[in-house]
Amino acid sequence: MSKILVTGALGQIGSELTRTLRKLHGEDQVIATDVRQPDLSTHPHNGPFETLDVMDEQQVHQLIEKHQPKQIYHLAALLSAVAERNPQRAWDLNINGSLHIFEAARIHQVERIFVPSSIAAFGPSTPLDHTPQDTIQRPNTMYGITKVATELLGEYYYKRFGLDCRGVRLPGVISYTTPPGGGTTDYAVEMFHYAVRNEPYTCYLRPETSLDMMYMEDTLRACVEIMEADSSKLKHRNAFNITAMQFTPAQLAAAIQKHIPSFVCNYEPDPMRQAIADSWPNSMDDSAARQEWGWKHEYDLPRMVEIMLNALQK
Ligand code: SER
Repeated sequence: MSKILVTGALGQIGSELTRTLRKLHGEDQVIATDVRQPDLSTHPHNGPFETLDVMDEQQVHQLIEKHQPKQIYHLAALLSAVAERNPQRAWDLNINGSLHIFEAARIHQVERIFVPSSIAAFGPSTPLDHTPQDTIQRPNTMYGITKVATELLGEYYYKRFGLDCRGVRLPGVISYTTPPGGGTTDYAVEMFHYAVRNEPYTCYLRPETSLDMMYMEDTLRACVEIMEADSSKLKHRNAFNITAMQFTPAQLAAAIQKHIPSFVCNYEPDPMRQAIADSWPNSMDDSAARQEWGWKHEYDLPRMVEIMLNALQK
């Protein structure tokens, strides 16, 4: 088997994706990289780890030349809420960092590269219910702008240089191991932590704000499956809408209350994050992913809630 390199490997998705890829391909075949050093007490990394700042172009080239990966999962990025607090840095990391990865991948003949996009690639002028695969994309957040640009960059590198760039537009991802960092959908993870501690939770979104969400297991499977999909069947390639469930904070709180009736959720909308959430789809249409590479979610809201509560109560 040939090597795989993961950027952002200590993040919410990266930490679990690295573990999944190592199970599939072997410990030493997957090179985990991150700008931070792993905390070995919480993150025992069994396979190879390298410190990598994707904004350092030279370091990116050196590392890819050294390991000669055949595939890259490029996850290093700033999420929506932190990006809005520091838009210039978000541009630099999400755009220039990605360009360094694309360029190094092209020069060192990486065969396939995964770059996630997001529900944030849509904006207020997009049809927000059953958002089609191909539709208006005029996001008004820096995170969203960088995601649209990266989708286009991926398509450009595929058509112009034959670098096989693949990806999905991820919804909010819910998991219990590594916490998410600075997204607008993070409330859906935080609420569980408060609920199991029997503490009231104050949500920064209004109770009726609907967003697409997905449990981590489905997310990991989607990342791997799109990379393994038969190229000849893909009409789209690097920005598939995928979803598993849609809910509002009020619906999530009610689903948790079925298990913990005393759980209380209060609402104090934060204008910045509320505006971001309002500009994103209420629900995405992911039929293109279902048709072209057989995407199918396995976890719905009740199942996800049960798993999350059980895991966090342990
Ligand atoms: N979960 C991400 C965020 O909230 C969306 O891609 O920023």
